[in-house]
Amino acid sequence: MSDELAGKRIVLGITGGVAAYKAAELARLLGKAGAQVDVVMTAAATRFVAPLTFQALTGRPVFTSLWDVPQDSPLPQPPLRAPRLAMHSQSAAAARSMLRETPPLPRKGQGERGESQRDFHGSGMAHIDLTRGADAVIVAPATADFIAKLVHGLADDLLATLCLAKDCPLLVAPAMNCQMWEHPATVRNMAQLRADGVSVLGPASGAQACGEVGAGRMLEPAELFDALHASFQPKLLAGKRVLLTAGPTFEALDPVRGLTNSSSGRMGFALAQACVEVGAEVTVVAGPVSLPTPTGVTRIDVTGALEMREAVKSALAGGLDVPPTRQKSALASGLDVPPTRQKSALAGRHIFIAVAAVADYRPAAPAAHKIKKGAQTLTLELVANPDILAEVAARPDAPFCVGFAAESQNLAEYAEGKRRAKKLPLVVGNLVQDGLGGDANVVTLFDAAGAHPVPPGDKLTIARAIVRHIAEMLHAQN
Ligand code: CTP
Repeated sequence: MSDELAGKRIVLGITGGVAAYKAAELARLLGKAGAQVDVVMTAAATRFVAPLTFQALTGRPVFTSLWDVPQDSPLPQPPLRAPRLAMHSQSAAAARSMLRETPPLPRKGQGERGESQRDFHGSGMAHIDLTRGADAVIVAPATADFIAKLVHGLADDLLATLCLAKDCPLLVAPAMNCQMWEHPATVRNMAQLRADGVSVLGPASGAQACGEVGAGRMLEPAELFDALHASFQPKLLAGKRVLLTAGPTFEALDPVRGLTNSSSGRMGFALAQACVEVGAEVTVVAGPVSLPTPTGVTRIDVTGALEMREAVKSALAGGLDVPPTRQKSALASGLDVPPTRQKSALAGRHIFIAVAAVADYRPAAPAAHKIKKGAQTLTLELVANPDILAEVAARPDAPFCVGFAAESQNLAEYAEGKRRAKKLPLVVGNLVQDGLGGDANVVTLFDAAGAHPVPPGDKLTIARAIVRHIAEMLHAQN
C-alpha cells in the first residue's frame, strides 16, 4: 500500500441511504491508510447508522448539525448548540470499548492529544472550518435528494452547506433505487454535477436493498477508497489512451478442453488501474480471468489469441468488433464514464502494454465435438499464433509499445533480446517464480538506457512504478 493518503484530511459526508453502513468500512480503510477522517452526517443518515460508530472508527467527533462547533475552535460555542449536543463528541476511547472496535492506526503529525497539527482554523463555523485544509470531501452514499441539493446549491444542513463552502475537490458516490437513478431529473442532475467539476464514483449495477435489480448500488468501500486514492495521484497520463492485453489465452482443442497457462491477469489489471489513476483512458483486452474490472477501465473479454489479436486491432482502429455483452461489466462498473465517452475512448491509442501471456501455439484444427478417449497416445498438431505485440510495434502508426518478458532464467539476456527483436522502447522483465499468480512481484525495466530494477512490492505498487517510468519516457520523447 502506498502512503499517498497518509496525513490527508478527508471529510466523509454520509446521507440517508441503506448504503450508509458501507461508509463505516470506508472510514476504516481511510483511517488505516493514515488519513484523518472527519465524518459529517445528515439527519437521515443517523437513522441508518449511529454517529457513535463513526466516532469510534475515526477517533474524532462526528458532525451532524450546522450549529456544531469544531472541538478545536478557540471561539466560544454558540448558545444554540448547548442543549442539543448535535456534535457527537463522546470520548472515542469509551465509544471504542463499547463497540469493541480496533482503534485507528496512529497518524502522521499527531499531536499530544491525538489531534492532527493540521486541524481546523477555528472560525467557529463548522461548515467553513471542516473543509479548510481538507484535501477532499467525499459523500458516500449520496442520495438522489442530496444530489439534487448539490446541483441547486441548497444549504439547509451542515453537509450541503460545507459542500458549497468547500475549497477542495468533491467526490460523490450515488446510491439509490434504479428507477430513481434513471429518472430524467436525476439524469439531468448528474450531468450538471459533472459539469460543475464534481467527480462521480459509480454507481454499480446489481441487486438493490429494495429487491430490484439495476444501476444505483453504491460502489463497494474498497472501490471508493481506490477512487479517492487515485484522485490524489499526479495526472501523468492525462489525455492519453492506453490499450492493454492481460491474462492468459485459452486455445480450444475441442468444445470442453484447451491449452492455456497459469497467468492470473493481476499484473495487467493492476497496470490498467495504475493508468486510470494517472488520468489515462484505459481499455483492457482480457483473456479468461475472473478478476473484477478496475473502476473506470473498459474491458473486452476474449478467449483465444486470434480473438485477442482482433480485439486489439479493432481498438487500435477506433472501432470495436465485439458483442456489446462483452463490454457490459466494464460499462456497469465504470467510474463516471458515460457510454458516449466509452465509444470515443476507443479511437486510436497512445500506449500499448502487452501483459498477456499469449499462447505461442494453438491446435491446428480444434475438434467440433468432444474428443473421445481412444488410443494410448494422442498427438496434437499445433500452429503458431500471431505475435500481437510484434505486429502492433511494427505498424507505421505504432503507439508507444511496452512488452513483458516472463522468464524462468537469464532474465536480462532474454528480456533485452525481446526488446530489440520486437523493436520496443520498454520491456518489463520478471522471473516467473517471483510473480506468477501471487499478489507480489519483482520486476526490472529494460530500455535503451539499460536495466532499472524496481523495488519489490505488491503488483499495484509495481504497476504504479512502471507507469511513472512510461510517463517519464514519453515526457523525454516530447
Ligand atoms: N506476446 C504477444 N503475442 C504473442 C506472444 C507474446 O503479444 N503471441 C507479447 C506478450 O504479451 C509479452 C511479450 O510479447 O509482452 C513477450 O511474451 P513472451 O511470451 O514472454 O515471449 P515470446 O515472445 O512469446 O517468446 P518466448 O515464449 O519464446 O519466451
